[in-house]
Amino acid sequence: MSGKNPDDPLATNLARWEEQVDIHIGSDFYRVKEFKAGETSLDPLILTEIGDVKAKRLLHLQCHFGLDTLSFARMGADVTGLDFSPKAIVAARQLARETGLAARFVEARVDEAAEKAGTGYDIVFSSWGVLMWLPDLEVWARNIATCLKPGGLFYIAEGHPLLWTLDDEGTKITENLRIVRSYFLEGPQRWENARDYAEPSVTLTHFNSSEWQHTLGEVVTALAGAGLRIEFLHEHDRLVWQAVPGLESKGDYFQVPADAPSIPLSYSIRAQKA
Ligand SMILES: C[S@@+](CC[C@H](N)C(=O)[O-])C[C@H]1O[C@@H](n2cnc3c(N)ncnc32)[C@H](O)[C@@H]1O
Repeated sequence: MSGKNPDDPLATNLARWEEQVDIHIGSDFYRVKEFKAGETSLDPLILTEIGDVKAKRLLHLQCHFGLDTLSFARMGADVTGLDFSPKAIVAARQLARETGLAARFVEARVDEAAEKAGTGYDIVFSSWGVLMWLPDLEVWARNIATCLKPGGLFYIAEGHPLLWTLDDEGTKITENLRIVRSYFLEGPQRWENARDYAEPSVTLTHFNSSEWQHTLGEVVTALAGAGLRIEFLHEHDRLVWQAVPGLESKGDYFQVPADAPSIPLSYSIRAQKA
């Protein structure tokens, strides 16, 4: 675990994530009831881009309470989910039992992935709201490369780093499509935000977080530096959460309304270990 030092940014983040697990399980955002009834939690972008997962050994980094991991299990993958939150791992195992899906869940930080989740995976997967929690993308990418077998694939869908720069104080999208923060900020950014993204009616007790504003260049360079060959880097005009007020809900995604200038809201990368 990340230690007991209250100044440790990962310990601060862990306390926040521990509090969020039960809130998220009960939220409309995560649609656990629909998942239990047989729906997938994976959105169409991921399902289209990741490729065939059937009978593949798949490692899901930062799996939260396991919804996406178990959705891959339903598609026939041999899944392992990894997350540093003990509560999330307990909840994921419980969800696996309730749904009768075979899965392994490992409590570990991303920088311990290779050591604790092992190697020889066909696919390493991660998505939506993950990289800002990681201090060091070189360590992240090295762990991915070590976990993958030769020829194995890494896939990620993630919020676009441009989102960090936008205003989020306005109520209309035209007020929020303004750059108010630097794209290039080093080190952890300390935030105080008691609002839960999945359940905005809740006020979080653990409202502090430390987040890293990695640029798109850093992400790609870290993967390439770890020996992964980038197959594609796609930028998208849609995102699965309402990152700034004024984005319109359209099916599975949020988008900039048609009468405002479009910007990339997310990206996806697929890369192969040589
Ligand atoms: C927003 S969730 C992303 C997963 C998925 N998109 C979802 O919404 O269920 C982020 C997850 O990252 C985990 N996490 C944050 N920092 C981590 C770290 N250093 N190592 C492992 N897990 C971490 C949190 O516990 C949380 O479950």
